[in-house]
Amino acid sequence: MRVLGIETSCDETGIALYDSEQGLLAEALYSQIELHAEYGGVVPELASRDHIRKTLPLIEQVLAEAGLRRADIDAVAYTSGPGLVGALMVGAMIGRGLAYALAVPAIGVHHMEGHLLAPMLEPQPPEFPFIALLVSGGHTQLVRVDGIGQYQLLGESLDDAAGEAFDKAAKMLGLAYPGGPMVAKLAEQGDNQRFDFPRPMVKHPGLDFSFSGLKTFTLNTVNAHKNEQGELDPQTQADIACAFQQAVVSTLVIKCKRALQQEGLKRLVIAGGVSANKKLRADLENALAKIKASVFYARPEFCTDNGAMIAYAGCQRLLAGQQDDLAVKTRPRWPM
Ligand code: KG4
Ligand code: ZN
Repeated sequence: MRVLGIETSCDETGIALYDSEQGLLAEALYSQIELHAEYGGVVPELASRDHIRKTLPLIEQVLAEAGLRRADIDAVAYTSGPGLVGALMVGAMIGRGLAYALAVPAIGVHHMEGHLLAPMLEPQPPEFPFIALLVSGGHTQLVRVDGIGQYQLLGESLDDAAGEAFDKAAKMLGLAYPGGPMVAKLAEQGDNQRFDFPRPMVKHPGLDFSFSGLKTFTLNTVNAHKNEQGELDPQTQADIACAFQQAVVSTLVIKCKRALQQEGLKRLVIAGGVSANKKLRADLENALAKIKASVFYARPEFCTDNGAMIAYAGCQRLLAGQQDDLAVKTRPRWPM
């Protein structure tokens, strides 16, 4: 089965073709980062308009890359939530309409299920069951995964998501949007001994997270080190980025180990934008090696939003016999 995947939940238009026999055939991504940069965050109306401009040309591009025609598409999968409602509607309307015109099935996919399954596109995918740490701009969740669609939420953030915390820390440090990768890059130049930031909720039993206290601590540290012009010297800026990143990463590592132990599992999948973070990957690999557990993640471009994960997740659901009716549904808020 050849599935066209369409992702338009936020600020990237991601399109891909996935074949259940041959794997990923082609994919394309258009990022709107430059469009939103001057506003310091995603402007929903502008995002929708840009998805309208880009979606069909990108579909043509992936078809050409795969050497296929529209008639070769067996099914269409599109992100139906959670996300920005206008942006979701663009992908949903184009996806549903295209499937209708081609008289093939269509299915709306949960964006976080897409992220969760993205490591399945790698050459050595994890076997079920496993623990998944979903860390994106909108979610921080620990999930027990027993199979496609068999997800049990074990813990989540009670306030900010990990990616959101990275983005807010970036703003405090005067870095451009999107902040997560910038903080990570700056942290490489930081002295990891200079500041010691609190690890939120680690002494708390259970598997929930909270990042708002760390956010306040970061803001206070930034303010305490600004000069009379309200600026940070570059080394202090890097040292704060380093301490902030270490606090988030250590918290995530502790909770992942706790989840594996609680569920008696040895496989951890990390997914979502923050799973691209190199420090998180390195610290998790070290910590899990000690308990003879292994960590799985997608290639960096499939950690952040992309069409391949939606094509893959949709394909699995369609193969299991699911499909949507003709009513186009989007769910801006949607628990997995
Ligand atoms: O999964 P994603 O692309 O979109 C959502 O579904 O939210 O995740 C985006 C989030 C942003 O908050 C971004 O700052 C963060 O992932 N992010 C990172 C890194 N790359 C992306 N955070 C830390 N380190 C990174 N290398
Ligand atoms: Zn995402």
